Amino acid sequence: MIQVAFFDTKAYDRPSFERFGSEHGLAFRFLETKLNEDTVALAKGCSAVCVFVNDTVNASVIDKLYAYGVRLIALRSAGYNNVDVQAAFGKIHVVHVPAYSPYAVAEHAIALLLTNVRRIHKAYNRTREFNFSLNGLTGFDFHGKTVGVIGTGKIGRIFIDICRGFGMRVLAYDPYPAKDSGIEYVPLDELFALSDVISLHCPLTDGTRHLLNAAAIEKMKKGVVIVNTSRGGLIDTEALLEGIKARKIGAACLDVYEEEADIFFEDRSGHILNDELLARLISMPNVIVTSHQAFLTEEALNNIAETTVNNILSCFEKDGICDNELCYRCGRIEQCKKERMDKCF
Ligand code: NAI
Repeated sequence: MIQVAFFDTKAYDRPSFERFGSEHGLAFRFLETKLNEDTVALAKGCSAVCVFVNDTVNASVIDKLYAYGVRLIALRSAGYNNVDVQAAFGKIHVVHVPAYSPYAVAEHAIALLLTNVRRIHKAYNRTREFNFSLNGLTGFDFHGKTVGVIGTGKIGRIFIDICRGFGMRVLAYDPYPAKDSGIEYVPLDELFALSDVISLHCPLTDGTRHLLNAAAIEKMKKGVVIVNTSRGGLIDTEALLEGIKARKIGAACLDVYEEEADIFFEDRSGHILNDELLARLISMPNVIVTSHQAFLTEEALNNIAETTVNNILSCFEKDGICDNELCYRCGRIEQCKKERMDKCF
């Protein structure tokens, strides 16, 4: 039986993983703690670890996992910026779930956007107290507005389709434009200058960190609405807050936050939040923060569990080749995965 240490377990993770795991003879050791240098020893005796977005899988953690006999890191997420794939190469295979429900994330981005622009969060609180005043609840029509989409992969494309349904003009930026998509690609500065709404759907890399910084915000329209369901590090949060305070940014819809790792996914009510920046953001009337929940639908949870279990089985039981492996053989993680016909190592 393949033993898998499952880090950062939440109640909503277990049912689907228990079901798919037991069907295929996997034994999950569910651990509530996150994986990092202090907790890595909990993986002793397991052949694989299953990790999520805020587990720390750096070179030092990887070396320890390897010494304990762990041979697979199975990410139960699409993004893999928290795993040093290069350090793992030659030692531990890394797999991820490239798509589990791009609809879940795109729809959540829209939910945040509609809620914020139409002040639903305010109206909800008011009517619960029998306050039926409409003062301060004025929004704007999406129809006829321009939305700038940064990253036109699986999630970005679905987000674009929904925006088109609203009758919005869509502009996009992506270094790898989708061919024959009918999407109007423009340089980033043009997207900043023309968009009423800007939504981020690109991965976090060294090149995209703080893509939205003070200089970028300076180029945007007054009143622009920012949506981020990708990764917190794409935005310089201090610059965002300054933009909100200066009334340059009209609203911010954030499902991710650059310092979320030690805050999100836990009940911290009743505690004093030590993160001044996040506390200040949340206190703003035009900011909505959800704690990295865009993926959280029944469909996505089932797909994540099923794909992860299949990834683990492919690596251990079949020919060892897994389509969802993140390979660093040639240093081009995504392309290498597509071109490779045999095992990485
Ligand atoms: P994808 O890989 O299908 O698409 C990403 C797109 O970004 C690609 O078209 C790529 O060419 C583009 N891109 C790369 N560098 C760029 C740059 N510098 N500027 C603009 N575009 C760039 O990925 P997918 O599935 O659409 O996911 C997008 C992101 O959403 C993920 O990287 C992840 O960080 C985030 N995500 C968030 C979730 C949540 O629960 N909040 C859940 C799942 C993903």
